[in-house]
Amino acid sequence: MSGQVKIVEVGARDGLQNERSIVPVFVKQELLRRLGRTGLQVIEATSFVHPDWVPQLADAEEVMTGLKRRDGVMYPVLVPNQRGMERALAAGAREIAVFAAASEAFSQKNTNCSIAESIERFEPVIAMARERGIWVRGYVSCVLGCPYQGEVKLQDVVRVSASLIELGCAEVSLGDTIGIGTPRNAARMLQAVAQAVPMEQLAIHFHDTYGQALANILACVEAGVRIVDCSVAGLGGCPYARGATGNVASEDVVYMLEGLGLETGVELDRLAEVGAWITNQLQKPNYSRAGTARLASMPVNPVMFT
Ligand code: HMG
Ligand code: MG
Repeated sequence: MSGQVKIVEVGARDGLQNERSIVPVFVKQELLRRLGRTGLQVIEATSFVHPDWVPQLADAEEVMTGLKRRDGVMYPVLVPNQRGMERALAAGAREIAVFAAASEAFSQKNTNCSIAESIERFEPVIAMARERGIWVRGYVSCVLGCPYQGEVKLQDVVRVSASLIELGCAEVSLGDTIGIGTPRNAARMLQAVAQAVPMEQLAIHFHDTYGQALANILACVEAGVRIVDCSVAGLGGCPYARGATGNVASEDVVYMLEGLGLETGVELDRLAEVGAWITNQLQKPNYSRAGTARLASMPVNPVMFT
C-alpha cells in the first residue's frame, strides 16, 4: 500500500468525556499542546454539549480560549445544536463536528431527539459555519450496532451519512460506538456508504470494546478509506453507550499504517510519550500495545522527563 492517511486524534474529547473525575483544564490544555507536537494534523479539542449531559467537558470555553494553536493543525469541537455553535464561536472555534446516529434509539438517548430532528438542528449550525468559513465534520454513530436497539440497518447508515454531506459536511466519520464490528461487516458497511458518499470524504471511528478495531481498520483501509479516528493510549468511551471502551489507540494505528507502507506524518515515539504522560496524569492504564512497547525501548522513563 502507499499514500497518506489522515489521523484524527479524538483523545481529548472522546477520550476524556467518559472520565468520571473532572480532569483539570490545564491538563487538557497541556494534552492538546503535547499532541500538537507529534505531527498530528487534526486534534479534536472538546465539546460544546450541554454541561449537565457531559460534565467532564463543561470547561469547553476555558479549554478553547486557552488553546495554543499550532500552525497547520485543526482543532475541531463537537457542537450538538445552535446553542453549542454560539458557544463554540464565542470561544474561537474554527472547526466543528456535528453528530448524528444511524439508530433512532441512540439518537434519543444521546441527543434527546430523533434522527430527523438532529439533522434539522444541524441546518442552521452548518449555515452559520459556512458563513464564517468554518470547516465541518459529521459523525454517524452506531454504524454497526446500537446498545439500545441492537441491529442497525445499513440503509440508515447510508441515508444519514449522505444527509450530512448534503448539509455541507466536508467529511463523515462512521462510528462503531460500541466496538462490536468485525472486519467483513465493517468493510461491507464502508463500501455501502461509499456508494453514496465519495470514499475521500469518509472516515472510520472504531471503539475497541471487542478488540476488533485494528482488524476493522485494516479491512477498511484495504477497501480504500484514508481517514482514521483514534485516541492516544486508547482513552475513552461514550457516556451514552454503557460498557463501550475507548477508541482504538492512536499509537497502534500509526504503527500498523506505517508498517503497511502508508504515511501518517505522526511521530510514533512522540505520540507514545504523550500516551505515557496522559495516562500518568489520569492514573489509568495505557491501552496502547505499540505505545507501551515503544516506551519500554526508550532509555529513560518519558513520564519523568517530558
Ligand atoms: P436538551 O435538554 O434536549 O436541550 O438537550 P434543549 O434544546 O431542550 O435545551 C434545554 C436547555 O439546555 C436550554 O436552557 C438550552 O439553552 C440549554 P434553558 O432555556 O432551559 O435555560 N442548552 C445548552 N446549554 C449549553 N450548551 C448546549 C446547549 N443546548 C441546549 N449545547 C442536547 C439536547 C443535544 C444539548 C443534549 O442532549 C446534549 O448535550 N447531548 C450530548 C451528548 C453527548 O455529548 N454525547 C457524547 C458525544 S457523541 C459520541 O461520543 C459519539 C462519537 O464519538 C462517535 C461514535 O463513537 O459513534 C462522536
Ligand atoms: Mg466515539
